[in-house]
Amino acid sequence: MALHLVTAALPYANGPVHIGHLAGCYIPADIYVRYLRLKGKDVLFICGSDEHGVPITIKAKQEGISPQQVVDRYHAMMKKSFEDFGISFDHYSRTSAKIHHETAQQFFKTLYDKKVFVEEITNQFYDEEAKQFLADRYITGTCPKCSFENAYGDQCENCGSSLSPTDLINPKSKLSGSTPVLKPTKNWFLPMGEIQKSKEFQEFIKRFENWKPNVKGQCASWLNEGLQSRAMTRDLDWGVTVPLPDADGKVLYVWFDAPIGYISATKEYFSHLTPGPSPQEGGEKKWEDYWMNPESKLIHFIGKDNIVFHAIIFPMMLMTHGGFVLPENVPANEFLNLEGDKISTSRNWAVWLHEYLNDFPGREDELRYVLTSVAPETKDSEFTWKDFQARVNNELVAILGNFVNRTLVLTEKFFEGKIPQQHTLNATDKELLAATGKAKKEIEEALEKFRQRDALAALMDLARAGNKYLADTEPWKLIKTDAKRVETILHNSLVLTAALGTLCAPFLPNTSKKIFSMLNIDPVKWNHAEKISLESTPSLGKTALLYEKLEDSIIENQIAKLHSSKPTPPSSANSSPNFKLPNQNSKTDISFEDFQKLNIITATILEAERVPKTDKLLKLLLDTGTEKRTVISGIAHCYEPEKIIGQQVLLLANLAPRKIKGIESHGMILMASDKNGKLVFATTSGKTENGSGVS
Ligand code: MF3
Ligand code: ZN
Repeated sequence: MALHLVTAALPYANGPVHIGHLAGCYIPADIYVRYLRLKGKDVLFICGSDEHGVPITIKAKQEGISPQQVVDRYHAMMKKSFEDFGISFDHYSRTSAKIHHETAQQFFKTLYDKKVFVEEITNQFYDEEAKQFLADRYITGTCPKCSFENAYGDQCENCGSSLSPTDLINPKSKLSGSTPVLKPTKNWFLPMGEIQKSKEFQEFIKRFENWKPNVKGQCASWLNEGLQSRAMTRDLDWGVTVPLPDADGKVLYVWFDAPIGYISATKEYFSHLTPGPSPQEGGEKKWEDYWMNPESKLIHFIGKDNIVFHAIIFPMMLMTHGGFVLPENVPANEFLNLEGDKISTSRNWAVWLHEYLNDFPGREDELRYVLTSVAPETKDSEFTWKDFQARVNNELVAILGNFVNRTLVLTEKFFEGKIPQQHTLNATDKELLAATGKAKKEIEEALEKFRQRDALAALMDLARAGNKYLADTEPWKLIKTDAKRVETILHNSLVLTAALGTLCAPFLPNTSKKIFSMLNIDPVKWNHAEKISLESTPSLGKTALLYEKLEDSIIENQIAKLHSSKPTPPSSANSSPNFKLPNQNSKTDISFEDFQKLNIITATILEAERVPKTDKLLKLLLDTGTEKRTVISGIAHCYEPEKIIGQQVLLLANLAPRKIKGIESHGMILMASDKNGKLVFATTSGKTENGSGVS
């Protein structure tokens, strides 16, 4: 029988899980896996935390703790929130596990021994004070394209150009602030351009034809541009050490080790599950069934920024290693935005899963429903709290919940909860009963093509058909004149309720459980959904509403919570134009609530010029991380405009806009002022990402 190995991208252990992760990857993967299991397939669902990579080391430095402490914290947090939410991984591992380090090293060694890598000596920036090579993100300098002074070694966040560190003008090490020097170092490269030409790879990419259009498109553009060799080892001290004698201070490239995490997690799963005296006897070798048996279908669920790694680089690794199956499909989603803005962990613009679970206990299915309805399947999409409310109230409550509830309530009312008999069927009844088979087929076809929004819509249409049936047959009226007919109507409605219980299970697992417990029957198998018999069912279990309406106040609280944690645009500011920060000697106490109203963020000056006919005013253009905004600042007597380009400042971002000399100013830059009135910028002790909140 065909085996299925389904993976969901290993999330970086540098922040908690948010709705973007869920909609892009984890819910789609979970729906697919639950569907396969319901169909009786042999499926293994694998995930874990990605604990290497430079962002984790940067976070650790910022917080003054070790990278291991960072990943321990977030690994525990992510694992728990996935569990609480009901993502049904068979195994959730982590890449700091010993078994992972060993597996990744073995994998690397195999490619090395097969002479897959090209050894190359290149010049890399080295910090002589910190005595280490610098990852791209550890180098900043002036962008050669737009002159922005705080471009990173891999990218300028002002103009978006991708860069290499040697492109930067006046590069500086973020570790010590010193100017790094170029120093030769040896690394091992995967010659992707060469592998691209191989027969095996050309054969493999034929599969792209059946993949989702957004994935196929991105792959085609990578392949058409021609692939460049990429270093699979890096001069860093956080990661899997390179298993070669002449590789001190080097680790595997995070994108080399992370996908191998799927393999090591599979191994770990079987070794925990079936311990035995030897691998064969204990069944530890079972991992090979999923990875090496040509009957196994490997499917990677990921977000769009991971496409090249899963569709091209990892397959090249598997292929050159030999023995492994190659991905059957890579159903990547695009990105989910939130209330008109990109989701961002560092700017705290997100709905965090652990907070949702806390604020909406028992309402996991509501979030699954909405995130599936708006999933960014082929293009970026948007989550808003108002839309969340509307979909819960107008769809889950008013359609699915309403049908199930009416059916159960009428059964209790007219028949004391006993399942009524089915008598002669008329055309309306037959049409209703036939709808299940049609819906099931539509759902299956859509799920198999990774069109989950369509599949969910077909499910809801089936519930709509149920509501229409009740509205057309009006059992509550008929009960006075034709009780026998009402028995048939409610019997059919209960059969449909059970069918909905099965067909909703991949999307709404808790709803499915509730439906079967209220019907007082065992869950019906997927393949029986269109031929359910309730003949032997005695009477209903305890019934309750499936969903409750979400009131406006709950939604407004969520919106307020979101905005309070992030820079708000000036238009929504509610402070007065004459608002002044109390100075140090002020005797007026303010409440904590008042303090919380201040939205102070970091921003960088992009442009500065004098405001004509004034002595003190400069017109500044600031990068706030999310937008560019103009602020007028009275600092011209202390700073030359050309000297402050690139300066990072603290900005009171929600000061109501006001016109100064005819120019609208959006916020206020915070300055420290000595007793002579000399001003210096108040700023953070080290550079931080623009838009970081200060509190
Ligand atoms: N950590 C990566 C991200 O969050 C995903 C890694 S997927 C794996 O973008 F294949 F490398 F594991
Ligand atoms: Zn630039």
